[in-house]
Amino acid sequence: MSHDEYPTDRPAVVTCGLPYANGDLHIGHLRGYIGADAFARALETLGQQVAYVCGSDMHGTPVAVNAEEEGVDPEEFALRWHEQYEETFPKFNVEFDNYGHTHDETNTELTKEIVRTLDEEGYVYEKEIKVAYDPEADQYLPDRYVVGTCPYCGEKARGDECDEGCQRHLEPGEVEDPTSAITGNSAEYRDRTHKFFRVSEFADYLTAFLDDLEGTSNARNQPRQWIEDGLQDWCITRDMDWGIDYPDNGDDDEADDLVLYVWVDAPIEYIASTKQYTERVGADEYDWEEVWREDGEIVHVIGRDIIQHHTIFWPAMLEGAGYNAPRGIAATGFITINGKGLSTSRNRAIWAREYLEEGFHPDLLRYYLTTTGGLQQDVDFSWDAFQEKVNGELVGTVGNFWYRSLLFAYRNYEGTPDEDVSEEVREKIEGAIGDVREAVNDYDLRGIGLAAVRLAQFGNEYIQRNEPWKLVDDEPEEAARVIRDCVQIAKAVGVLIEPIAPDKAEALWAQLGEDGSVHDAHLQDALESPPETFDEPGEPFEKIEDDRVEELNEKLAARIEEAASDQESEAETETDDEGAGESESEPMTDTDDLEPLLEDRISFEEFQQLDVRVGRIEDAEGIEGADDLARLEVDIGFETRQVVAGIKRLHDLDELPGTKCVLLANMEPAELFGVESNGMILAAGEEADLLTTHGDADVGEKVR
Ligand code: MF3
Ligand code: ZN
Repeated sequence: MSHDEYPTDRPAVVTCGLPYANGDLHIGHLRGYIGADAFARALETLGQQVAYVCGSDMHGTPVAVNAEEEGVDPEEFALRWHEQYEETFPKFNVEFDNYGHTHDETNTELTKEIVRTLDEEGYVYEKEIKVAYDPEADQYLPDRYVVGTCPYCGEKARGDECDEGCQRHLEPGEVEDPTSAITGNSAEYRDRTHKFFRVSEFADYLTAFLDDLEGTSNARNQPRQWIEDGLQDWCITRDMDWGIDYPDNGDDDEADDLVLYVWVDAPIEYIASTKQYTERVGADEYDWEEVWREDGEIVHVIGRDIIQHHTIFWPAMLEGAGYNAPRGIAATGFITINGKGLSTSRNRAIWAREYLEEGFHPDLLRYYLTTTGGLQQDVDFSWDAFQEKVNGELVGTVGNFWYRSLLFAYRNYEGTPDEDVSEEVREKIEGAIGDVREAVNDYDLRGIGLAAVRLAQFGNEYIQRNEPWKLVDDEPEEAARVIRDCVQIAKAVGVLIEPIAPDKAEALWAQLGEDGSVHDAHLQDALESPPETFDEPGEPFEKIEDDRVEELNEKLAARIEEAASDQESEAETETDDEGAGESESEPMTDTDDLEPLLEDRISFEEFQQLDVRVGRIEDAEGIEGADDLARLEVDIGFETRQVVAGIKRLHDLDELPGTKCVLLANMEPAELFGVESNGMILAAGEEADLLTTHGDADVGEKVR
């Protein structure tokens, strides 16, 4: 079975991974919430009925451990963060239709009901297992209360996840050399009876589910591998006080002391939050049961560290309890900062609050995070790259086009000239609408954003090519026609960019004198005429100056340094607050400064598509006007290639001729500072250490 294209006539729900209510939000979190928000908005512009829901993840050891450190009650602690999140999201134009939390009554009741159903259907059984225990603290050590070594990859791991290595979920008792995170003592294992969910019975179901699943490929490929390796049943209870009690089933068993594992009740909040939305607006407007129990479209946007929970445990629970399966799962890559893993303990992060305090408009970050890389890719954030994107694409392309065309229209016609839109422009806008529709169906956020920017780029070319300022006096009708086209393009860019930059799109909408909100506009409205008159426009985007970026870089560097010196004087605590999409490495290993390893494997065939050759640099010179770029002539046996490389300041260019190097020969050509680059020199590290061969491989030999 495959899915009908969006928009369908069924209601959809879009969710994003629930944030643990345990610490400040940062850019790693925001990527997911903004991404899902933009996707939900884009789906709506297609005409799909959509609810965008989420909530705070209140339970589990991520909350309990941090609350204990602060010496506060976990409920009070989690509620405080929950309230802060509720206030923060709208500041980034992340507008949930419902934002609940996992400790509220709706979720508590629904969770118990679903677990009871799974139990009644025979999917739950009891088993005695080994549970880590701290004799000194006299307490059991579930999940983050214990640290040790991953039995699969040997990396340092937490009790329930190999967060620094292979990202696998770990079952209680699996982590080797367990140490208590509370006292640092080595833990002992004790026998306890726990409840298990028969995930292994769902292997065939899950295989079929994955064949049908839309979204990013990492969310299909990794779980296929796990299924092939053999699924284990899943322990769904914990020896803790904080959490939802295992539902009482009448018989008096040991489960009465246990709470549910946080990963049971957390995703159920997706359903509970949708239910609360229906309770608010009425089932006539939006029916949660149609979505979750019948045949609505369910889309989860998550970080790639929680793929297993969403593609194995969650769909098995849904199926076992008689709920609808997700249609799409989009798993985003991590965020790195200046090329290094984001780390909250090292203060190498951009905090949500900090971004706002710096006075930047939320839509700029939304644009950066959604269009910098594909959804699955890790995205690097640096203030330099942020500046470049904002100044180039938003100020230079979109803002410039909006402002110049509307100002021209205002000055000469006091609004939209009374002409028809040309065939060329109509087709161009229709093409852009088609691109957005395709991008939504591909879960390609970047494509959604770029469709709008490309249209603005066309607008700039169009106005440049037709030079209306030369026409106004001699050919006034022609000038009016050109400007009529430009006003239509401007409106279309506004409609198209709304999912990514909702405030800026709204401002344009008001500028054009349109009624209502662009939020309610459909893609097709991009082709409707704007009102006849409008007011004088202002510039929609502001350029970010170099000294501002310098200042921000210095602040960030100083902060990281301060955290490092704090850590040297203070013993490490291993109870960091981690959030969705964070690729954190703790200082135990030396990998914390490295980009995280890519989880997705490629095939040998894919590797063979890279034509990598041994080369010899014949000539090297700096490119005028570019601080970092050098032009190289590289002999690769068959021919000599001109290549541009960012090594001007890192190498003594005069020394380079004669050096053997390694070149990606079938890199697509690019033009940098007017110089064509026809291949890519391979290098590693901050100093651009050039790759080479060390034996007798001849120039032109293929690297394999
Ligand atoms: N709180 C979890 C995390 O940050 C995500 C929970 S997502 C849900 O990793 F599926 F459980 F809802
Ligand atoms: Zn591991």
